[in-house]
Amino acid sequence: MTSSSNCFFLVSLVVLLLFFLGSTLTMASTKDIDSICNDSFVHNHNKTLCLQTLTAYPPAVSATNMVNLVKVTVDLVRTQAKKRAGFVAGLEKEPTFNKTMCYESYISIVENFRSARLEIEDNDAQTASYDIMVSFDQTKIVKDQVGKNTDKASKRLMEMTLVMEDFIAIAVGAINRI
Ligand SMILES: *[C@@H]1O[C@H](CO)[C@@H](O)[C@H](O)[C@H]1NC(C)=O
Ligand SMILES: *[C@@H]1O[C@H](CO)[C@@H](O)[C@H](O)[C@H]1NC(C)=O
Ligand SMILES: *[C@@H]1O[C@H](CO)[C@@H](O)[C@H](O)[C@H]1NC(C)=O
Repeated sequence: MTSSSNCFFLVSLVVLLLFFLGSTLTMASTKDIDSICNDSFVHNHNKTLCLQTLTAYPPAVSATNMVNLVKVTVDLVRTQAKKRAGFVAGLEKEPTFNKTMCYESYISIVENFRSARLEIEDNDAQTASYDIMVSFDQTKIVKDQVGKNTDKASKRLMEMTLVMEDFIAIAVGAINRI
C-alpha cells in the first residue's frame, strides 16, 4: 500500500468507529427515553407528547445516561412552566381570573423544579419526586381559577395548563427511573 492509501484507510476506520460509537450512544438514550415515556403515570397523561418532545430535544437525545436524561427532562419541564408564567404576566387586560394567583402558581412550579434539580444532584430522588408531584397542586389552583370562563385568555390558559400537567407527568416518569 502507498502511504496515501494507508492514510485513507486509517481515516475511514476512524470515521467508521465514530459512527458506531455515535449510534450506540444514541441507541442508549432512545432506550432511556422509551422507558421514561412508558411509565404508567405518563401513560395516563400523554405518551405521544412525551416521545415527541424528548426525541426532538437534542440535549435529551444526546444524554449519555439515565441520570443526565432525567436532569435534562426536569430542566425542560421547568422551562415549560416559565413560559406559562410569562404568558400570564404578559396578559394586557385584567383577565377574568386572578392573574396574580395564576402567575404565582406557575412561579411555584418553576421553583419546585429548581429544587428538584438540586435534589437530583444530591442523589435525593425521593425529595425531588415530592417536589415534582406537589406541582399538580399548583395546576389545580390555576384550573380552579379559570373555571368555566369562556373568554379567549381563559381558554388559552386552561389549554396550556392541561398540557403543563402532561409535562409534569413526564417529569414524574423521569424521576421514577432513578
Ligand atoms: C412498558 O411497560 C409495560 C408494563 O408497565 C411493560 O410490560 C413493557 O415491557 C414496557 N415496554 C417497554 C418498551 O419498556
Ligand atoms: C397528546 O400530545 C400530542 C402531541 O402534542 C397531541 O397532538 C395530542 O392531541 C395530545 N393528546 C391528548 C389526549 O391531549
Ligand atoms: C388574587 O390573588 C392574590 C394572591 O393570592 C390575592 O392576594 C388577591 O386578593 C386576589 N385578588 C382578588 C381580586 O381576588
